[in-house]
Amino acid sequence: MNRLRFCLNDHWVEETNVSPTTTLLRYLRDTRGLTGTKEGCAEGDCGACTVAVAERGDDGKPQWRAINACLVLLPMVQGKHVVTVEALRDPATGKYHPAQEALAKALGSQCGYCTPGIVMSMFEATYRGDLDAGWKLDDQLCGNLCRCTGYRPIRDATNEVAGSCPKDRFAAELKEAAPQSMQLDYQANGQRYFTPDSFSSLWDVLDVHPDARFIQGGTDLSLEITKKFARPPKLVSLEAVAELKVMHETVDGVSIGAGAILSELERFAEKRVIPLARMIRYFGARQIKHRATLGGSLCTASPIGDLAPVLLSLGATVVMRSRAGERRVPIDAFFTGYRKTALGPKEVLAAVELPRLPASALASAYKVSKRRELDISTVSAGLYVELDSHRVVSRARLAYGGMAATPKRAGLAEAALVGQPWSAASIELAAAQLGQDFQPVSDHRGSAAYRALVAQNLLRGFFEETKLTPVPRLPEHHTGTVITYL
Ligand SMILES: Cc1cc2nc3c(=O)[nH]c(=O)nc-3n(C[C@H](O)[C@H](O)[C@H](O)COP(=O)(O)OP(=O)(O)OC[C@H]3O[C@@H](n4cnc5c(N)ncnc54)[C@H](O)[C@@H]3O)c2cc1C
Ligand code: FES
Ligand code: FES
Repeated sequence: MNRLRFCLNDHWVEETNVSPTTTLLRYLRDTRGLTGTKEGCAEGDCGACTVAVAERGDDGKPQWRAINACLVLLPMVQGKHVVTVEALRDPATGKYHPAQEALAKALGSQCGYCTPGIVMSMFEATYRGDLDAGWKLDDQLCGNLCRCTGYRPIRDATNEVAGSCPKDRFAAELKEAAPQSMQLDYQANGQRYFTPDSFSSLWDVLDVHPDARFIQGGTDLSLEITKKFARPPKLVSLEAVAELKVMHETVDGVSIGAGAILSELERFAEKRVIPLARMIRYFGARQIKHRATLGGSLCTASPIGDLAPVLLSLGATVVMRSRAGERRVPIDAFFTGYRKTALGPKEVLAAVELPRLPASALASAYKVSKRRELDISTVSAGLYVELDSHRVVSRARLAYGGMAATPKRAGLAEAALVGQPWSAASIELAAAQLGQDFQPVSDHRGSAAYRALVAQNLLRGFFEETKLTPVPRLPEHHTGTVITYL
């Protein structure tokens, strides 16, 4: 179909001449005059551009999701329902949406730049049935950066509407928002965007357009468009290939589709792969997690990508797929250099498989950044050891991000631990080796000396934390400054 078609504020619209790399934000403001949605940063950091989109979750139920319009390319909303802040006030009765009412009543409204985005995050919260812990309120709001008037009134207002699920026109719209097909072959202004909806149609596209670039959530690739003004001539979205989104338990562990979005992966991992859930808790913000995928995170091969160290420590296997078939390699062999992976031409990352944690395992994950939420790691780590019946280390996988050109295991530190009793003295032996394993660089996030010390301290912290529980969870209480009422 060479036509973009989606439902915007309850009206279906069609476009045939808009460049496929036009962001939803630019489209709303420039083409539709919907200027309530603001541009603050154009890189997913401020939340001023938050809008809601109806998606079907992995449980099959439709839900409103808050997303950053500045990172969403227009073809990514093909067949979907989009709601912007302009549509919240009921045109028939003139009544404001409960999220707007609550924010005004709590005196939480701020400048005209930030408030619309905050309202849209609260809009999602209004229809969420799973806001059952204080920290989830903070998580819901952390993608909206500015709190000039103070966080408390905003949080109070969100607390009031969260999970209230009014039976209003948005609830009704959600019922109708069965996913329309995203399948697309769209071209405009010399650019082309494909959304195949199966592997076989993906291979067909790649046979004819081997030079096309893959895109999933776009939270990484879209920055090339918004910040570097790149105009990729051909993009192939993997979003509609259903097999890529499947997460399931296997005989000896779990398999996670590369297309799984992080908000769903977080829920899946909470019960099954705790270190991964722990890392995702502080990955970006809710708007980012609704778009960012596991595959996108690994395929950027960023040295500061947060998921790679956890997966390296858990002994993951990556599954790559092309028309020629499937190949599996240990994740250690996936990162071949700075921002380089083992993927061949016309090959996609299809899934990541993780073995079940044995009872003798201690495992955790850590992220150190300047700000707790919505920040890039200075150093991150996935740490894993197995102990034998005498509490001697029989296996160690210590993986770090932010310490080298790729996410990388600390081979010498691991070797120093294996065969040693699990003790503070053995940890010091391993910590001393980290200086040989890594020669980190200094940058604006931290000096080389700081990074080296943090890496050691994370190992020490891992020892202390796993004394209390072998696979530490994050505390379930709120992370904000306000006593929770939930
Ligand atoms: C505001 C903000 C906050 C962020 N916070 C964090 C954070 O806390 N921690 C962190 O680690 N990262 C963070 N990121 C980076 C980014 O969100 C992640 O890297 C994300 O997981 C990328 O996933 P995506 O689906 O959006 O990737 P895309 O942008 O769609 O793709 C990224 C790259 O991977 C390739 N690719 C994607 N999927 C596949 C596949 N299946 N097979 C082959 N190639 C593929 C694409 O061609 C592209 O080159 C943040 C980004 C933003 C904008
Ligand atoms: S404009 Fe700042 S998050 Fe989109
Ligand atoms: S800049 Fe808008 S409220 Fe702070």
